[in-house]
Amino acid sequence: MKLLPFVKWAGGKRQIMNELLKYVPSSFNCYFEPFVGGGALLLELAPNKAFICDINEELLCVYKCLKWKKYYSALKEELRLHELNHSEAYYYEVRNWDHNISFKTLPIEKKAARMIYLNKAGFNGLYRVNSQGYFNVPFGKKEKVHIFDEENLDALHDYFNHHAIYLRRGDFTLIVPHVKKGDFIYFDPPYDTLENKDSFTSYSKDQFGKKEQIRLFECFDKLAKRGAYVMLSNHNTKFINELYKDYHIHIIHAKRMINSDATKRGDIEEVIITNYE
Ligand SMILES: C[S@@+](CC[C@H](N)C(=O)[O-])C[C@H]1O[C@@H](n2cnc3c(N)ncnc32)[C@H](O)[C@@H]1O
Repeated sequence: MKLLPFVKWAGGKRQIMNELLKYVPSSFNCYFEPFVGGGALLLELAPNKAFICDINEELLCVYKCLKWKKYYSALKEELRLHELNHSEAYYYEVRNWDHNISFKTLPIEKKAARMIYLNKAGFNGLYRVNSQGYFNVPFGKKEKVHIFDEENLDALHDYFNHHAIYLRRGDFTLIVPHVKKGDFIYFDPPYDTLENKDSFTSYSKDQFGKKEQIRLFECFDKLAKRGAYVMLSNHNTKFINELYKDYHIHIIHAKRMINSDATKRGDIEEVIITNYE
């Protein structure tokens, strides 16, 4: 069964999947995705061995629940409860859980189910937190929500549970000591801001600005020199072209659906950068 992402994630890669697949090496050892988000490429490739990482703690709770049997059935129970209780008032009640000091110590299946519920019931599948780190996406105005497809979720559990998928919460550089020659890394960071355009980059309270893009380039360069296959997505900006000028830069067109201003949705140039032909 084909695996599908369990959340709608800003910057999700489903619409450019065919383009991305053209640049995936025909064979590699371990797969690394250090900005995994909804994991569209991970789930498309479904490798036997992978190392995935993201800075978003609650998102990692979902992956952990999908992997480990001891959390998985509790996760489904929690999801059913959210579906049953759904209303505008309930949405805001769940949204505000993170204002409570005990939120940090909630069982991981509760944090994971909340993440999926807010993603499906909130406005446009956005994940956004304010400067204090509190989730602040408004209600999505849906009377009823279907927050999980049980067949797909079971297939995801089966995949994560039966394969060597290593999960870490944290900065993308966590992968560096683990990468070896012949491994494949896909970097899908928050994108560089388009000149003269607002674009969506606030996935967490830590912004991903130019300094972070440079830090990422240094990591790309280091792993490329180590003999790994490295691929990266970003906006087609002057800054990114300049940074990666010694690598292969392929321009593609993407329809971007998530933007805070609906009139700014549309065709956007992106790049896929590789260190190999
Ligand atoms: C463009 S999204 C990835 C989208 C994903 N490929 C998909 O298909 O859904 C970028 C991700 O990077 C994560 N992120 C932001 N800063 C990070 C950092 N310093 N290290 C690791 N992950 C980070 C965000 O939480 C977000 O999930």
